[in-house]
Amino acid sequence: MRSIVSFNTGWVFEDGIAVTLPHTALELPFSYFDERDYQREFTYKKTFTADPAWGDDEVAIVFEGAMADARVSLNGVEIAAHRDGYTPFEARLTGRLRAGENVLTVVIDGSENPEIPPFGGRIDYLTYAGIYRDVWLKRTAPISIAGVKIETPDALAASKTVTARATLANPQGRAFAGQLTASLRDAAGTVLATAAQPAAAEVSFRFDGLTDIALWDIDRPNLYTLTLSLGDSDVLDTVFGFRTAEFTPEGFFLNGRHLKLRGLNRHQSFPYSGYALGRAAQERDAEILKHELHVNIVRTSHYPQSTWFLDHCDRIGLLVFEEIPGWQHIGGEGWKAESVENVRRMITRDWNHPSIIIWGVRINESRDDHDFYVETNRLAHELDKTRQTGGVRYITDSEMLEDVYTMNDFILGNEELGGNRPRTALRPITETTGLEKPVPYMITEFGGHMYPTKSSDQEQRQAEHVRRHLDVLNSAYGNPGISGAIGWCAFDYNTHKDFGSGDRICHHGVMDMFREPKFAAFAYASQCEPDEEIILQPVTFWARGERNIGGVLPLMILTNCDEVEVRYGDNVVKRLGPDREAYPHLPHAPVVFERSHFSDEELGLWGMEWHDATITGFIDGKPVKVVNYVADPVAKTLEVVADAVAIGSTDAVRVMVRALDQAGHKLPFYPEPVTIEVSGAGKRLGPATVPLRAGSTGFWVQATGAGQIDVTVNSDRMGTRTLAITAS
Ligand code: GAL
Repeated sequence: MRSIVSFNTGWVFEDGIAVTLPHTALELPFSYFDERDYQREFTYKKTFTADPAWGDDEVAIVFEGAMADARVSLNGVEIAAHRDGYTPFEARLTGRLRAGENVLTVVIDGSENPEIPPFGGRIDYLTYAGIYRDVWLKRTAPISIAGVKIETPDALAASKTVTARATLANPQGRAFAGQLTASLRDAAGTVLATAAQPAAAEVSFRFDGLTDIALWDIDRPNLYTLTLSLGDSDVLDTVFGFRTAEFTPEGFFLNGRHLKLRGLNRHQSFPYSGYALGRAAQERDAEILKHELHVNIVRTSHYPQSTWFLDHCDRIGLLVFEEIPGWQHIGGEGWKAESVENVRRMITRDWNHPSIIIWGVRINESRDDHDFYVETNRLAHELDKTRQTGGVRYITDSEMLEDVYTMNDFILGNEELGGNRPRTALRPITETTGLEKPVPYMITEFGGHMYPTKSSDQEQRQAEHVRRHLDVLNSAYGNPGISGAIGWCAFDYNTHKDFGSGDRICHHGVMDMFREPKFAAFAYASQCEPDEEIILQPVTFWARGERNIGGVLPLMILTNCDEVEVRYGDNVVKRLGPDREAYPHLPHAPVVFERSHFSDEELGLWGMEWHDATITGFIDGKPVKVVNYVADPVAKTLEVVADAVAIGSTDAVRVMVRALDQAGHKLPFYPEPVTIEVSGAGKRLGPATVPLRAGSTGFWVQATGAGQIDVTVNSDRMGTRTLAITAS
């Protein structure tokens, strides 16, 4: 019988440090570090006892991800190697175990080996060394179910079909016997259909005439399970959904319904821990994208990401563009062969996720390379006929070997180069494709390095950051030929010296590295419908002297309300609707109060008193949300909140620390440090003393077992806060 148990605990790292996986080989400072420090070999060892009861079972260690070049030895003999930091691999122990104690050694080389994608050139992100995803001990019968590809060929028909192609693993070369049974279950566990076939290396099933099936959609992500049983020796559950997804020259269609894609790119990195945060943090990122940023698609730039993340995208209805590892550089023949294998590994790992709607089969932003990309596309189509391919480029007139022309359009901002360049949000499709005929087309990046913006930047710069994201979204919404636009990017990320602000950070996110929103986050969030969330976010810190010349105008309010009222002091009340002139195509244009809406007396000038304000959003004439500002903010409250106070005994949970004024707003320029102590059944990831940046900081608490975790945050000025987290 299949048994998959965590193999994350009891590892010894380097010279005897006890560690638990996921693990980053080198905990990094927040910024200004040397990224070469982790680009070397690291060794992990685990001693374990082989159980005689395993008999002739197949036993393997499954690594979900180790960066970048991993070699696994058992009792000094190499048994597995994997040169791809983003996909799983197995080390087979069967027949190699000795009675009693065994030692598993994993040497991972974190150097940027130019023979392994994405390395060989320069890349704008870091690939932190470590066994940074989960590791499992997997035990199965000698013949077991290796995997399955499930398809729903006519998902929109009243009577639906499921096909499943299962493969059996038989490494001991035994004779197949008995039957493989497949049964379909809905979310409540009700069996909808069952079929059986003689066991063989490959077994196909087809279920027809399925009625009363609920589609998987972004609002109702209905999931089904296919259970495969091999006699009574193995069972494998695989989750899938019924949906269609199609990019056309007229836009994107989900289940035959037109849907404009609005998304952000995600790097899977975190401060201090690099890539090494497990299930809870992965799922949390999906939640943030779906429910805080209210986007409907994420691009896993630039590599396959954690299956915890993808599973959660399936559960919550967040669409995914997944792509192979790489960044601009294409290596030699061996490198390309490895990249083709990356396509295979990505697709065979992830082909059952309903959330994934397109495979990225080009090296992000690389030049054309006919033979190479003919092959990546051929393989993608051979492995998966149900999804279209894309290939992300920034060059124009690039050879269209994929199904969708996926374009990083960084034209906005080029006006700063001079030479009478006009301010343009997006280029015409025919100009970038060089093709006269319409093709399926999607914007996969914009923003980013064209306008890096820190959460502590001046309000005016942040307002322009917002405007640029809105301009591109507006333009994408206005062009029916554009399937959607995916901005660069969701979260700030650590990077190489050749990129970023010199601090080893690309401040390109609409959120900072702790996932704390900048104003631009609300450019996305405000596009959702009010029944999802009412958004009312003024783009201001509300101060007389933060902007040039003084005041807060023009004051943009990112909102999905019909009207917004600003009450300034006791007498000045102004009410306005969305700015449809500047943003005719957005689902929800911002409300913009200009200088022309106020007289000098109403507004007050430099030297005059600054007042409190109340900003109210109205829907159908009724007030639905209020934001208050005080004219005299002081450091009032030290807020300490965890994403969850009950967590799993191996989870890591984020804790945010914020300095707030009397009205509950963050103090954007409050720099004073806090000290963080974590005791009990958990430990702190990151340093003990940190400054607040733009009024906040964050850290993760890693559970080290079951029990209570006590968190204490102290600020000399604002006092001490404590928090209890229960790990079980
Ligand atoms: C793109 C690239 C991204 C990131 C971005 C910054 O060229 O694909 O990975 O570097 O620029 O704006």
